[in-house]
Amino acid sequence: MTIRTHNCGELNNNHIDKTVKLSGWVNSIRTHGQIIFIDIRDRFGKTQIILNTDSLVETGKSLSNEDVIHITGKVIARSADLINPDLSTGQVEVIVEEIAVLSSAEPVPLNINDRDASSEEHRLKYRYLELRNSSLQKNLIIRHKTAQIVRNFLSDNNFLEIETPVLMKSTPEGARDYLVPSRVHNGQFYALPQSPQMYKQLFMISGLDRYFQIVKCFRDEDLRSDRQPEFTQIDLEMSFVDEKEVRALVENLITKVFKEIIDVDIQEFPVLAYQDAIEKYGTDKPDLRFEMTINDFKSFSDKSDFKAFSSCEAVKMVSAKNADTFSRKVIDELDSFAQSNGAKGLAWFKVNDNNLEGGISKFFNEDLRKEIIESFNLENNSICFMVGDKLDNSLRILGKVRSKLGDMLNLKNNASFAPVWIVDFPLFDWNEDTGRFDSVNHPFTAPKDSDKDKVVSSPADIISKGYDIVINGYEVAGGSIRIHDHELQKEIFKIMNLSEKEISEKFGFFIDALKYGTPPHGGIAFGLDRLVMLLAGVNNIRDVIAFPKTTSASALMEEAPNYVSTEQLDELGIKVLSDEKDV
Ligand code: AMO
Repeated sequence: MTIRTHNCGELNNNHIDKTVKLSGWVNSIRTHGQIIFIDIRDRFGKTQIILNTDSLVETGKSLSNEDVIHITGKVIARSADLINPDLSTGQVEVIVEEIAVLSSAEPVPLNINDRDASSEEHRLKYRYLELRNSSLQKNLIIRHKTAQIVRNFLSDNNFLEIETPVLMKSTPEGARDYLVPSRVHNGQFYALPQSPQMYKQLFMISGLDRYFQIVKCFRDEDLRSDRQPEFTQIDLEMSFVDEKEVRALVENLITKVFKEIIDVDIQEFPVLAYQDAIEKYGTDKPDLRFEMTINDFKSFSDKSDFKAFSSCEAVKMVSAKNADTFSRKVIDELDSFAQSNGAKGLAWFKVNDNNLEGGISKFFNEDLRKEIIESFNLENNSICFMVGDKLDNSLRILGKVRSKLGDMLNLKNNASFAPVWIVDFPLFDWNEDTGRFDSVNHPFTAPKDSDKDKVVSSPADIISKGYDIVINGYEVAGGSIRIHDHELQKEIFKIMNLSEKEISEKFGFFIDALKYGTPPHGGIAFGLDRLVMLLAGVNNIRDVIAFPKTTSASALMEEAPNYVSTEQLDELGIKVLSDEKDV
């Protein structure tokens, strides 16, 4: 038997009077006396079919949602008042002549068409059913199309798609590694790649010139709404390029993807220095869909009678409009939010009738109030929030408050896109806990040419050739021009407090490789998942991944991770030191 002549999203006025065969899932059943209306569904859409003879109605009555059925029937036009403009097949319906049940479904534990009706945990347990939902299918279709466009674009630009190993050597790269024990080499471990960074640089040394890969990466780190333990990068590397050339290519790629997938013209890619981003937005991932920059308030608070701020290294302020929407309750909630991010408190006042009112306004005399309103051009019905703390803390906390205000005031429109390049990152970050320098990007990032002399003398002051592209507050891609001089590369490892022995054990092969003729090179990696989140207009990375992990890195459907048998562990020479029994 032919299982189908058309899919469930295909029929329209052109098919009227044709006999068709459709197959799909029973999406809904409506019984009107001796007529049964069924929406039959597949990935392509839904079609209304009608059972109107006694024997068909008999079968229809035994059907339940999610049964897989097959029908043969005749396409007819819907009467004008019944046309459904929201449905691609909404002009027609099919009068069924024959029906067969291909697979009957037990009562499904999820409402396929209403994801919100079940908890996320429950949905993840039955993910294969949740994936029948059209909005999730739409996200996966966007993901597929994005990958295709990227592949074609990069191939057209002379990039070669080359795979890199998944079982590799554990090297310190930022996050914790996922380790894989070796059976053949008892006591030794592979690591899953956090990214193919060294391999792609080795390709440049091999003379492959331009490489890309759409590749799984693995990081054992704290998870958030935009982070998964295994995620996908669009990873690329280019020889004989500088920052501008990499950025230009990335801009063309992003422009193409947004145009072709969601018909959005990305107009501009502004460039912001890291330090400016921190000072203006309190983060290196600023959401530029709204301005609301952070201001310095210290000189004003110092002149006031508000003494809590006088001993603070910095006092920063952010102002928002629509102060009337900020009730005491809302302000208290923001205060708790700031405190949960480390603030001692969130000071505030409102501006009305060209005067300050409420909050800490009483500590400011009349002249000072005028000065504040004029200096910051504060309009009536605005509200200012202040945080006093160490400089980096006050900026970071106000950055979070700014983002929260963006949510509260509906300034984050999912249909608008504000990309920004963040450049001029510091090369190193001093880690108080370990008492050593960490790479801000990764240890293969080159310092600015003008800062090369400072590498040994003042590492904290070096600016790198790194760049990130941030869209709507998400770091969508990050990369850099690399070090291609083996001596400098070694020096960088030393500054990171790696001993000669550690350098040679962990990175010896790589430093050796740099010695045999290395082209200047650079690259970048996109988080494909994050890019798709933006294109699909969703705020949760799990909505764009077919089988995601929970925030505690568990797979709820197949129950991974899980215990393994003693035999498996014995073979690997591993003994588990925990109370839990193995299975
Ligand atoms: P980086 O570590 O910045 O750079 O990663 C590149 C991009 O990958 C995405 N990303 C993630 N997405 C989801 N879940 C995660 N846990 C996660 N971690 C990172 C982000 C990020 O911008 N090898 C370098 C790239 C290079 O220098 O060329 C690298 O991996 O979107």
